[in-house]
Amino acid sequence: MGIARSERDQETRTVLFSLAQSIQERDRVTYEHSRRVATYVQRLARYIGWNRHDARDLALAAMVHDLGKTWIANTILNKSAALSELERREMERHPVIGARILIGCEVPSFFVETVLYHHEAWDGHGYPAGLSGEDIPLSARLLTIADVYDVLTSQRPYKAPLTEYAARDRMLAGSSTSFDPQLLDVFLHLLNDTPNFILPQHVCALPHQPMEPMAAIVDM
Ligand SMILES: [Fe+2]
Repeated sequence: MGIARSERDQETRTVLFSLAQSIQERDRVTYEHSRRVATYVQRLARYIGWNRHDARDLALAAMVHDLGKTWIANTILNKSAALSELERREMERHPVIGARILIGCEVPSFFVETVLYHHEAWDGHGYPAGLSGEDIPLSARLLTIADVYDVLTSQRPYKAPLTEYAARDRMLAGSSTSFDPQLLDVFLHLLNDTPNFILPQHVCALPHQPMEPMAAIVDM
């Protein structure tokens, strides 16, 4: 890797870590979710043969995938009941908001695209663009799988976590509709090969040393 590229990489990491820290300060639940998703997606990317550098970049994108939620009102963000149609549409702006912030920070387009398209669905029913199949960037297709898996296996105010088996069944039900079926297949194999795949719910982030726990994730 040339010096110019590694310097650019370092700048990008610094910006993304700062943004991840801003998520931690604004919304602890989203921050902890993002850390787990980063680990899941990094494991998945390595499993399908991505090199360490690219898998690490994908983990960094995962750390900020819900960055746009920092601009969504608390009344919507923390609502424990079902969202109204209007609230749902407001919430669905978060990939675009996140992507705009990243564009403003001049990070490479890989990160912008991954964040922008992480709610697209294989059959085209997702948002914001309604892309389908391989028109959805590979990084975003990987992230979608990790993201949904963590939501299913997490405790939320409105729901209990699913077990690993129940989560597997739910994921399978979304094969070819929500998820790239081939990638989902690989993910399910990874689950099989990895005992205790589900990460603990409460990470101990250190307020005065926020870089350390995140660095631990991305150096895997
Ligand atoms: Fe999201």
